[in-house]
Amino acid sequence: MEKLLKERIDDTNIPEHVAVIMDGNGRWAKSRGRERIFGHMNGVESVRETLKTAREIGVKYLTLYAFSTENWNRPKEEVDALMDLLVTTIMDEIDELDDKSVRLKAIGDLDNLPPKCCNALKDGMARTAENDDITLILALSYSSRWEMTNAIRAIAEKVASGELAADEIDSSIVSKHLSTHDIPDPSLLIRTSGEKRISNFLLWQIAYAELYFTEVLWPDFRKQHFYEAILSYQNRERRFGMVSEQITKN
Ligand code: FPP
Repeated sequence: MEKLLKERIDDTNIPEHVAVIMDGNGRWAKSRGRERIFGHMNGVESVRETLKTAREIGVKYLTLYAFSTENWNRPKEEVDALMDLLVTTIMDEIDELDDKSVRLKAIGDLDNLPPKCCNALKDGMARTAENDDITLILALSYSSRWEMTNAIRAIAEKVASGELAADEIDSSIVSKHLSTHDIPDPSLLIRTSGEKRISNFLLWQIAYAELYFTEVLWPDFRKQHFYEAILSYQNRERRFGMVSEQITKN
């Protein structure tokens, strides 16, 4: 099954950047009569498999929405357990990430994370900074509105100081002030668990992304589900606001 799906993938049309909203961990755990954190723990295997599969087929950037600004409002017990899970996962996996030439990056309000989490991330990022097979970007304490508000403030300060004229502000100036300034926009966004929302994730960057929603809960997400998302992406015609004939001509 997995092999058949893989064979159908067109190697010349792999999305350079795939972003994922990993959803459904809580429901997965609840359906087994377990605590929510059990779902997050099992979600780590899905992270591992998704990264491996993305790297194998030639995706260059994989962004995972691991913790949103709004997630701080969850019960303290769950937040603490998630932060611990992040630290242990990064520490357990960093050797293998480095071996496989994975570059680790993070976007979000990292200074707001517990110091142990922030330090593990910073160490991991420093250690893998020169790797170039695939970049794994963890969105942590991240939300698009937080990011865009920061960008607007930074641009406004430059205008106020005379460094930038208001009429010089265009979409590339805005992009340069986002935390993703050195990362191409995602061409595919996957959300698991059947919810059809964007939840404050990469709102600016997904302007032209293809959206793929699957009913599969994140802890069940495996290689074949990633292939299915890629195949769905490859079956779509990306028009970027043009008409079909213009695309086929180019
Ligand atoms: C959403 O499911 C998932 C999260 C808020 C956390 C995702 C975190 C992991 C998979 C842990 C490890 C991650 C890395 C990158 C090492 P939910 O809790 O909202 O599920 P629900 O909608 O069913 O309640």
